[in-house]
Amino acid sequence: MEKRNNFGSKLGIILAAAGSAVGLGNVWRFPTETGSHGGAAFILIYVVCVIVLGIPVMLSEFVIGRSTHANTIDAYRRLAPRSGWIVQGYLGVFAAFIILSYYSVVAGWTMKYLTTAVVGGVSRISDPASYYTAFTSNAWWPIIFTALVLLITHIIVVRGVQNGIERFSKLLMPLLFIIITVLVVCSMMMPGAKEGLRFLLHPDFSKITADTLLSALGQAFFSLSLAMGCLCTYASYFRDDANLTRTAVSVVSIDTLVAIMCGFIIFPAVFSVQEITPDAGPGLVFITLPSVFQMAFDGAPILGYIFALLFYLLLIVAAITSTISLHETITAFLHERGLSRRAAAWIVTSSCLVLGIFCSLSFGPMKDFRPFFGLGFFDAFDFLSAKIIMPIGGIIISLFAGWRLDKKLVRDQVTNGGKLRAPLFGLYRFIIRWVAPTLITLVLLNELGVFSHK
Ligand code: PFF
Repeated sequence: MEKRNNFGSKLGIILAAAGSAVGLGNVWRFPTETGSHGGAAFILIYVVCVIVLGIPVMLSEFVIGRSTHANTIDAYRRLAPRSGWIVQGYLGVFAAFIILSYYSVVAGWTMKYLTTAVVGGVSRISDPASYYTAFTSNAWWPIIFTALVLLITHIIVVRGVQNGIERFSKLLMPLLFIIITVLVVCSMMMPGAKEGLRFLLHPDFSKITADTLLSALGQAFFSLSLAMGCLCTYASYFRDDANLTRTAVSVVSIDTLVAIMCGFIIFPAVFSVQEITPDAGPGLVFITLPSVFQMAFDGAPILGYIFALLFYLLLIVAAITSTISLHETITAFLHERGLSRRAAAWIVTSSCLVLGIFCSLSFGPMKDFRPFFGLGFFDAFDFLSAKIIMPIGGIIISLFAGWRLDKKLVRDQVTNGGKLRAPLFGLYRFIIRWVAPTLITLVLLNELGVFSHK
């Protein structure tokens, strides 16, 4: 087998992993969740979740990946030969496969909105809700855009770890930060900025319920790309001198900062348009924002044009850096099973496209075909991956790193064989052994409706 490629630099490592984490989950899902769970109180709990659970679970994935330098399935096989733990490797690859299929569909919608924004069309959409429904339920166009997203992802992945993933992350992530900063500044100058800021900064603790906590935890896992094999795969390309703790802290900080900044882009804008409320749900960025662009910039259409263009560019850049990591997780596995990288990547791209077609059609011609307990393809894939496999994976990873892995191996990885200090190692062990499995089990039970009294 040819020599395994690694990331070339520490910055490349951080930007690639942050690229996986920062995605539609930050720009689209986080503001939606924040909007429907009362704003500041949700953000506060979210931040606690990412610090207490996000960092330790991410660190554990890094340990598993870097100590084996193998794809996620072989990583478990090597660390725990002839045991059931390998299930987590298979779960990760399977989950990456179905997430990539439905995530590319939403990324495809973004691509369509971007092309509309380029020609100045977003501010001319007279009825954004009908426009959204008409586009997403169309049999052909969303599929063509989904294919385009998968193709771009494919081209980057085929180029390899250093020339493809690392190089593009180094290009796209700074672009993303620049766009976000410009948009935050624009948004702060809008008439509703004050009210938007109040919504984001003044916690109303009466809004906190068990559901807020569990939703925040679920969102944290999705946003940080945890438990899906992606970070474990990326860590397998980390060099032996990479500081795993510092990388995990950096990635979590970047991801959280981006999510909160996206809140600062969206809510001041949303509050600038009186008749729109912040709890608009998943339609927020595709239905609500086009109305906002039109109404808020009524007197200055050029600003509306620039804002819309930059916003959808931000969304697509964020989405592509995440689809790359999902694609790589599966491609790396197939490649290390003996296929050429190109052949492996083609298998992933084409099979995800086939599933993506079913996901896309479930908004249109196949709307009434709901074979999965009453859910169509898109909703079923989303539910299965984000609500079931992700928490199960989180529990397995915590138990594996906390109870099965040799403590010395973990310490060696965290300290790079004693070269780095790890003053909080005891705390990490406590969280990963006890706190993480317990809390994530609660999330899973909540997702399954065990606590629901509706
Ligand atoms: N973290 C990505 C986002 O926030 O959009 C989504 C994601 C990517 C989830 C990769 C899971 C994953 F393995």
